[in-house]
Amino acid sequence: MRIMFVCLGNICRSPMAEFIFKNMISGTKQEDEFFVSSAATSGENVFGNSGSPIYPPAQRVLKAHNIPFGDKRAVKLEFEDYDKYDLFIGMDTSNIRNMERILKGDKDRKIRKLMDYTSRGGDVSDPWYTGNFDIAFADIEEGCREIIKRYTQGIPL
Ligand code: 4NP
Repeated sequence: MRIMFVCLGNICRSPMAEFIFKNMISGTKQEDEFFVSSAATSGENVFGNSGSPIYPPAQRVLKAHNIPFGDKRAVKLEFEDYDKYDLFIGMDTSNIRNMERILKGDKDRKIRKLMDYTSRGGDVSDPWYTGNFDIAFADIEEGCREIIKRYTQGIPL
């Protein structure tokens, strides 16, 4: 199962999702069953040619939870990614719209919104606007946990 988490800038929410998810499956038998990455819908906000590192406050919350994130750099979602992944999981409704634009639709129904895996739905709290990375972390963790729970139960994602 190949999953790409997607947000606007790939410096806060989607990299948090990538590394929270990887950490959850690390050391379990699911580790080899997933390929997980993250990307931005905004090219302009991939901040320079090499791609920005994870935004420092997001790094801090990951570190506080002992979640490794390597040297992740922001990358942009490209049309060519569509066939390389099984699922594209956005953080909010605007991410979904932007993904549909970049991916030129969604003929194979691969696009999802993270919090739709939870009973409450809605959007991941956006730390870029709220300044609160702990709430975003909690939302993302809840969504990721639900994905893995479903997968473990054999429910299609
Ligand atoms: P992200 O956060 O989409 O969670 O990585 C943001 C990053 C950059 C901007 C907005 C949100 N921006 O407007 O530049």
